[in-house]
Amino acid sequence: MTSGTGDRLMAGGTSAGPGRADPGRSGLAAVSRSWSILGAADPLWAVCVDRERRAGSWDLEEFMASGRAEAEAAMERLEQLGICPVRDAALDFGCGVGRVTVALSRYFGAVTGVDIAEPMLDRARSLLSGQPGCQFVANDKPDLRAFADGSFDLVYCSLVLQHMPPALAAGYLREFVRVLRPGGGIVIVVPDTHRRTPKGFVYALAPQPLIGFVQRRVFGYPAGMQMHVLPARRVRRIVEGAGARLVVSDPELSVGPHWRGYRHVIAKG
Ligand SMILES: C[S@@+](CC[C@H](N)C(=O)[O-])C[C@H]1O[C@@H](n2cnc3c(N)ncnc32)[C@H](O)[C@@H]1O
Repeated sequence: MTSGTGDRLMAGGTSAGPGRADPGRSGLAAVSRSWSILGAADPLWAVCVDRERRAGSWDLEEFMASGRAEAEAAMERLEQLGICPVRDAALDFGCGVGRVTVALSRYFGAVTGVDIAEPMLDRARSLLSGQPGCQFVANDKPDLRAFADGSFDLVYCSLVLQHMPPALAAGYLREFVRVLRPGGGIVIVVPDTHRRTPKGFVYALAPQPLIGFVQRRVFGYPAGMQMHVLPARRVRRIVEGAGARLVVSDPELSVGPHWRGYRHVIAKG
């Protein structure tokens, strides 16, 4: 399967390094605008970008099965590490259409999916209406002020932080630590660095506005997707500064072939 730029990438794929985003187009409002357009036009494809699955042609069962596999692998890892033994409440940040949210509800008493794009949340609610234990909430703030300190046993965030300016991603990471209960875990899947492929070089060097333009005009994306990387050393620095620790960084392929990615497990307390 391949993405609109030639390879499959789980809406991940990525881009310019920290500081490279154009400030005018890269604030939270621009992120919200782009994802609202993407979510309204072709939500499943926008979550799991694959040029063979455009225009609503993702098989829904296959799509949701990918979320179940992802949640199962993450929960197994947490179990091995002895992190998150209490499983009352989980947060799925940047939940999209609920691909992983619903899978997490097998393990937690309640799962809250949060997203910035209303069309994504509308689709999640219609796909998962009546699913016990799942609720979907819009958040267009650069923080998680809607949630009190220590609200969740798990914060899960897959293929989201690369789609916003790195300073915003850093702020959310600090918030993940704040809303986590002691003993709980944070799992994030994010690209770390660009691979030395031709497209990896392009994503590393091209400015975000040019990437967005090519995505729209050449590859027919309904809106541009910002693509950044978040190196492990930066993840470590941010979470340690917020009072948590980076426990392990497992290699992760779902970020696409042009990036080296990790599934980071972070613990508090
Ligand atoms: C590639 S999709 C991943 C969806 C989901 N995590 C999954 O793996 O199925 C990225 C999602 O992040 C959401 N998103 C992007 N920036 C966000 C932000 N600042 N706050 C909340 N959600 C955001 C987008 O609307 C989109 O639904």
